[in-house]
Amino acid sequence: MMSYHFYWLVSAFFGLAAGFSASGNNNTVVYWGNNAYNHNPNFQSSSTQERLSTYCTDEVDIVVLAFLTTFPNADSGPAGFAINFANQCGTKFSDGLLDCTQIGEDIKTCQEKGIKVLLSLGGDSSVSTYGFSKESDGSSFASVLWDYFGEGTAQERPFGSATVDGFDLDIENKDQIGYVSMVDKLRELFQGASKDYFISAAPQCVYPDESLSDVLEKSKVDFAFIQFYNNPSCNANSEGFNLAKWEEFADSTAYNGDIKLFVGVPGADYAAGSGYADPSELKTIISAHQSNAHFGGVMIWDASVAVNNIIDDQSYLSLVNGYLKQSTNSLSQRALSEIDDPIIDTTSSTASNQVTRTVVQTFYEVIVETEYEIFTTGIASYQRDSKIKANSPKGPSSTPLIVSKVEMRKREESGSIATVPNLIAAILVFVSVSLLV
Ligand SMILES: *[C@@H]1O[C@H](CO)[C@@H](O)[C@H](O)[C@H]1NC(C)=O
Repeated sequence: MMSYHFYWLVSAFFGLAAGFSASGNNNTVVYWGNNAYNHNPNFQSSSTQERLSTYCTDEVDIVVLAFLTTFPNADSGPAGFAINFANQCGTKFSDGLLDCTQIGEDIKTCQEKGIKVLLSLGGDSSVSTYGFSKESDGSSFASVLWDYFGEGTAQERPFGSATVDGFDLDIENKDQIGYVSMVDKLRELFQGASKDYFISAAPQCVYPDESLSDVLEKSKVDFAFIQFYNNPSCNANSEGFNLAKWEEFADSTAYNGDIKLFVGVPGADYAAGSGYADPSELKTIISAHQSNAHFGGVMIWDASVAVNNIIDDQSYLSLVNGYLKQSTNSLSQRALSEIDDPIIDTTSSTASNQVTRTVVQTFYEVIVETEYEIFTTGIASYQRDSKIKANSPKGPSSTPLIVSKVEMRKREESGSIATVPNLIAAILVFVSVSLLV
């Protein structure tokens, strides 16, 4: 009996430690590299953009490096592209390409924590110059990206031996040529790779996006980091907020039927021209959409802003990540409502009911979604047992609570009912595992 409790308690802890989940509805994404904090009208240099690893905390699941600004471009040396990470990379190889050793080290640090690191191409097209003249140029450039940032072999690699986990398209110049062939080629290269790679795109919220609709409709994009800012007609804080339209697109038009949609927001009001959703607005959006099969999480522009925007002693980043990860809390609420069966309330002693509620709450706070079913089975059994006990002459003297599926089946067969030691055993294991972890 102990071993069942132990099994799911341990797996619950490992589940929580996991962080990023490609199919999850709770991922927090931050762009990093552009030092958007610099736009703060009250700029304090002490809060300027820090090295990448500073932001790889358990409040972040994906970091998107911004940007590979210029491509393809013969003036940028043999590589044919330029990168820019503001105050975080200044050293150059002899031919002019940036040599960002520290970012390379930090990419590895972030990845060791389970955080995915993508490299973004493009950005604000009023400051960056990019675009292809013919479709097949995109495919050739995919090989360049793979050689310099993936598992290919370029002589000069800006991040050294670090490999990114994929590429992001933040194309904003309304020129769609080349990206479908680029993504198709990248997918081909990913096939022989040593790990999973991802492709994301960051369209404007106005649907369809003038720069990325082709690639979203014709090639496999894993994540859409939709910019619900700088677009007053559909900003996150506006009447026209159109995530529902994008959900429809994901259901019907997207090439990747499993594409995940992210609500992109500025990390503070100064980080974009318009569209800052304050935490409570964002919380409302998350609760309204998190159950949609296409919901992936929230994207914030950018990390340096999000950690410096402090609201009631918590950073914007921390608040947003908290809302996204609240699914476990809402499970605990669901669990409580399920044990609020009138039969239990009227027949259990107040004290034992209180202990039961506390234990259920505690356990639910550590479980993960996949284990929910086991709990509901356990609770159904708890309710059934309580009813049996309520009808027995002695009344509900004990409350069997956490029951594994296997044990459930055994109990159903034998008609036996677990007793208080069962609960005590579970608490002991819980406490000892907590101490170990
Ligand atoms: C996030 O979602 C994944 C996938 O559904 C889940 O396994 C994980 O427990 C969730 N994380 C939290 C902290 O809720």
